[in-house]
Amino acid sequence: MTIQENVDLQPYNTFGIKAHAKYFTILRSVGEVPKLLASHIFKNENHLILGGGSNLLFTKDFDGLVVKIEFKGIEVVQESEDEVTLKVGAGENWHAFVMHCVERNWGGVENLSLIPGTVGAAPMQNIGAYGVEIKKIISTVEAFEISTGEPKVFTNAACNFGYRESIFKQHAKDKYLISSITLTLTKKNHHFVTTYGAIKEILKERGVQELSVKQISDAVIHIRKEKLPDPTQIGNAGSFFKNPSIEAELHDSLIKLYPSMPAYTAVDAQIKVPAAWLIEQCGWKGKTFDNIGVHQHQALVIVNYGGGEGEKIWQLAMKIRDSVKEKFGILLQPEVNIIR
Ligand code: EPU
Repeated sequence: MTIQENVDLQPYNTFGIKAHAKYFTILRSVGEVPKLLASHIFKNENHLILGGGSNLLFTKDFDGLVVKIEFKGIEVVQESEDEVTLKVGAGENWHAFVMHCVERNWGGVENLSLIPGTVGAAPMQNIGAYGVEIKKIISTVEAFEISTGEPKVFTNAACNFGYRESIFKQHAKDKYLISSITLTLTKKNHHFVTTYGAIKEILKERGVQELSVKQISDAVIHIRKEKLPDPTQIGNAGSFFKNPSIEAELHDSLIKLYPSMPAYTAVDAQIKVPAAWLIEQCGWKGKTFDNIGVHQHQALVIVNYGGGEGEKIWQLAMKIRDSVKEKFGILLQPEVNIIR
């Protein structure tokens, strides 16, 4: 493990923001964790644990140590005729891992194809797409407690998963370094989720009679490529805000004013409204401001066309938030981790 100074973070965040880390290191094996935790710089500086950098926005240089996790490995820890349990290194690329499973016809993660980022970051925000969240398949999350260096295993229940939420974003925030996740996938009798309209449409269009892990993965990849900008081409961090849940009362009054407002039932009798719709109604979709803007096919995605500054993106996000608040009385919460 070598700690470098004044490192440009642009290659390490999918927004493509130019920001510098005072210190930067890459951790390639769990064996290096004790050395990192014991290091003078780690103990005395702020630190940021980084996966694929696909869900964060640097608004300025990072005054501290950025630790990029690159623990690799996909290990079969248990296997039966029906299921396979895998322990996957936090630094594995999420999509490459999904492809590994799809190739072997292991079911459970196919709806989560093409999500950017790493395996270790996936439980932090309970990644989800097209009707599936990772909380459905995770058995445990393995981590090191930063203050003691002790290894700790979080059961699925202990992760306290919610919509784009987990204990790692709540009171365990910044207290653990996730080293791997363990999850169980099906080898047969897969539980396919095809409730999302566009998946159904594509499968119908393609004349698919018998569902397979591969066909669903292909359909998801097709939808994502159509709607979402490829972060290797246009800087972005996926959905910038969470979809808000509102009280039934507010929903009732809004639906009278906006009869076409889409809505879904969420937990605790609340109603979930797509943030993308709210943002589009406020006129932001496809708008550009110098080298940043709101994506033309998905109003929930803020983009950096090249050379955009993190602080400017944050200011744009706040303008979007304010306009939605003013028009609909709904306060959007960022989904992206803002590094201030
Ligand atoms: N819509 C608009 N305008 C738009 C886009 C969407 O009005 O520009 C409306 C439509 O009514 C559409 C609805 O919003 O039916 C939902 O849109 P979409 O299916 O594209 O999904 P989303 O709610 O915007 C969420 C996740 C995505 C995930 C998709 C598919 C969040 C914050 N985002 O987006 O996750 O891929 O569902 O399941 O929950 C991410 O987290 O970075 C991400 C991309």
